[in-house]
Amino acid sequence: MRELNRQRILVTGGAGFLGSHLCERLLARGQDVLCADNFFTGTKDNLLGLLGNPHFELLRHDITFPLFVEVDQIYNLACPASPIHYQFDPVQTTKTSVHGAINMLGLAKRVRAKILQASTSEVYGDPEQHPQREDYWGHVNPIGLRSCYDEGKRCAETLFFDYRRQHNLCVKVARIFNTYGPRMHPNDGRVVSNFILQALKNEPITLYGDGSQTRSFCYVDDLIEAFLALMETPDDFTGPVNLGNPGEFTICELAEKILDLTGSRSTLIHLPLPSDDPKQRRPDISLANQAFGWQPQTPLEIGLDKTIAYFDNLLRGRPAGTTP
Ligand SMILES: NC(=O)c1ccc[n+]([C@@H]2O[C@H](COP(=O)([O-])OP(=O)(O)OC[C@H]3O[C@@H](n4cnc5c(N)ncnc54)[C@H](O)[C@@H]3O)[C@@H](O)[C@H]2O)c1
Repeated sequence: MRELNRQRILVTGGAGFLGSHLCERLLARGQDVLCADNFFTGTKDNLLGLLGNPHFELLRHDITFPLFVEVDQIYNLACPASPIHYQFDPVQTTKTSVHGAINMLGLAKRVRAKILQASTSEVYGDPEQHPQREDYWGHVNPIGLRSCYDEGKRCAETLFFDYRRQHNLCVKVARIFNTYGPRMHPNDGRVVSNFILQALKNEPITLYGDGSQTRSFCYVDDLIEAFLALMETPDDFTGPVNLGNPGEFTICELAEKILDLTGSRSTLIHLPLPSDDPKQRRPDISLANQAFGWQPQTPLEIGLDKTIAYFDNLLRGRPAGTTP
């Protein structure tokens, strides 16, 4: 019976931070998982714990090219996510979002698979509404340095909804807010990984401005639960739906928690605030809560503790593939 119920699930970007956790979770639920990744920011190290599993397959593939496989569900996560990575080759970033979406939607249409898109809070751009609800259309610069990512993801959303209208595909669009946890890329320039690495190396912790700006941080396990619950919603629930943790912390509070949890001797230093640094970023997750009863469960200290253990292992040269 277990074999009969086993779904074949494609995860694009499955060797990355979120993708590797998703593959792990799907396998633990008894599914067959095919991971397709071009290893631009993801690594095989992230999948070390899965490579021997007979229900897991890893395929080196760039989703800007078509893919012909037989699957029941697709999670489309492939795309570099941090500004350092997506600005490295901005044309390829737009191609990954747009051609990648067309290829994965084409595959979903051919095999009649359900397909979930990993979209982003960046579709709201530099928002004029706080917190952002899903019916806000955003305020996005179409020609700036971040546009390859923001506009690429917006166009991907358009494609998802056009495939829904034109071809009656079952689509799900998740707008992900800042997520952290083990297997984040160490050099992605994000505040959580930066602070943890600085603290573990006893280097000064660099705060921009006075550190009173607030951010919210969703632990990866909570986000993966939301992906699975969203995929299981009735076919007429498409989203877009915000996924993130609405708990708000100042950057100073985050730094102090990390100092405390690592027992670091680092000091805090203040650097000038970048001109486009938002004062506040917080998701409104009422739709996710109403539609599939989701809300994050992991307190910041617990999530940070696991993330610190991961980076500590990494600095000591231990393998990355298993969650500490
Ligand atoms: N982590 C977050 O806080 C966050 C927030 C918003 C949205 N997202 C979205 O979630 C998804 C996963 O993000 P992540 O944080 O795991 O990033 P990540 O960079 O760790 O993972 C992205 C993966 O996609 C792969 N990839 C990139 N281009 C590809 C291509 N053309 N073909 C095949 N594979 C390709 C990379 O090698 C990597 O394994 C992305 O689509 C990102 O935009 C993440």
